[in-house]
Amino acid sequence: MAHPVTPTVVTEDTITDVAAERWGTAHDPRTAELLTSLVRHLHAFARETQLTEAEWMAAVRWLTEVGQISDDKREEFILTSDVLGLSMLVVQQNHRFAEGATPATVLGPFHIEGSPELGYGADMSEGLPGTPLYVHGTVRSLDGSPIPGAVLDVWQADSDGAYESQLDVDEARLRGKYTAREDGTYCVRTIAPLGYAIPMDGPVGRLISQTEISHYRPAHVHFLLNVPGFEPLITHLFREGAQYLDSDVVFGVKRELVVTFTEREPGPTPDGGHSDVPWCEAAYDFVLQPA
Ligand code: BEZ
Ligand code: FE
Repeated sequence: MAHPVTPTVVTEDTITDVAAERWGTAHDPRTAELLTSLVRHLHAFARETQLTEAEWMAAVRWLTEVGQISDDKREEFILTSDVLGLSMLVVQQNHRFAEGATPATVLGPFHIEGSPELGYGADMSEGLPGTPLYVHGTVRSLDGSPIPGAVLDVWQADSDGAYESQLDVDEARLRGKYTAREDGTYCVRTIAPLGYAIPMDGPVGRLISQTEISHYRPAHVHFLLNVPGFEPLITHLFREGAQYLDSDVVFGVKRELVVTFTEREPGPTPDGGHSDVPWCEAAYDFVLQPA
């Protein structure tokens, strides 16, 4: 006669261990570690807050909306991670560069792959309104030696705070790839960025609106440098004195990334050209950490 099998009865007290053990069976050890820890922390959150069913359903509906509004241009999950400070925490704990190296900051939801290759001083803002801005300097290693051929992938918002992926445009707009010359020097011609609001017309915006959180980012230009032999660098340069430097909604500001935008009268420009209108200049050396 077969013995009756006693079912494992899961209680409020045992469910966390049972669930963690179950997810700990993931075949890849790191995946098992991540999922086990996730289960334990989620359960701890529910216990600590005495989460109600109505609250959890509201959260699930919110997450569903985050998924539904996302597509190849709208990255509401990245935005969620950014405004919760999780993106910046992960960036910082994975890029503990030596002192003197340019620090990393968030990628954000607006980077587009495959930007056009532009020459030294070429204008990535062609035809768009704004004060001409030249960002120039040298890409170098921590020991000071220049890095010829380093590619700087650059992108920014327009004077309305809009990125290309938020607009219906066919051509690359306010983005480009610049290659450092033999002596490591680079020169980007663009327009002076302004502070802007993160997208507020979705679930992230709705949540932020229920708080006192400022939904603005200070004026900045994004840079991505992926140079063989060096740690990849994703960063921004922020305009010194800009509004919202102290309250960046995605926690991305670092002291070392705040640079002076010097205002210049019409005249010769850093690319060897000439501006007929007042322009701005930001001199900055990108210092890469050897891999
Ligand atoms: C950005 O600067 O492009 C950005 C970064 C994080 C969230 C929203 C925008
Ligand atoms: Fe940005």
